[in-house]
Amino acid sequence: MYSIISLLFLAVIYVLVDVNNSLQINYVYHNYTAMTGILKNINKTHSDLVFLYSIGQSVEGRELWVLLITKEPNKEVLLKPNVKYVANMHGNEAVGRELMLQLIAYLINNSGKKSIRNLLETTRIHIMPSMNPDGFELSLEGRCEGPGRYVPTNIFSY
Ligand SMILES: *[C@@H]1O[C@H](CO)[C@@H](O)[C@H](O)[C@H]1NC(C)=O
Ligand SMILES: *[C@@H]1O[C@H](CO)[C@@H](O)[C@H](O)[C@H]1NC(C)=O
Ligand SMILES: *[C@@H]1O[C@H](CO)[C@@H](O)[C@H](O)[C@H]1NC(C)=O
Repeated sequence: MYSIISLLFLAVIYVLVDVNNSLQINYVYHNYTAMTGILKNINKTHSDLVFLYSIGQSVEGRELWVLLITKEPNKEVLLKPNVKYVANMHGNEAVGRELMLQLIAYLINNSGKKSIRNLLETTRIHIMPSMNPDGFELSLEGRCEGPGRYVPTNIFSY
């Protein structure tokens, strides 16, 4: 009897923890500091599902973050395909950057559901929210013609 009660208790705890594990990312533009904080935090709290790495640094020295999402991220499984998403190539075209953060949250939020679980068991999904973090920092929200499209040292940046 006691063991059934404690099992139920554990199940309740598990559900609570699981709910707390879901991610809410606000619908605002996240600058480099904020984006880095989110990615590092996810890397800490969901190490069973993600692995955060950098493919190098931007012209101004910002990390070019990629978040790998998959079941057993530290295990390279033969014939498990790798796919990548790359966003925010033009620094001031930033909706993709936020969509990638939301996609990460969606995959993690739903990692227990059959369809997403299948996806994460059979695919290694690499997500790079920002390919041009320098340009993003130069951009001005609401100004499409302003600076930030290219990297700062590019002769076409203005
Ligand atoms: C980045 O955004 C945060 C808010 O999320 C703000 O506190 C901080 O000042 C911003 N940093 C820069 C360099 O704009
Ligand atoms: C992400 O977490 C792993 C441990 O799960 C660690 O080895 C790795 O260095 C972390 N990545 C970053 C960029 O901090
Ligand atoms: C993830 O779950 C949180 C908490 O339920 C929710 O607020 C958020 O909108 C979800 N995000 C996505 C992209 O599913």
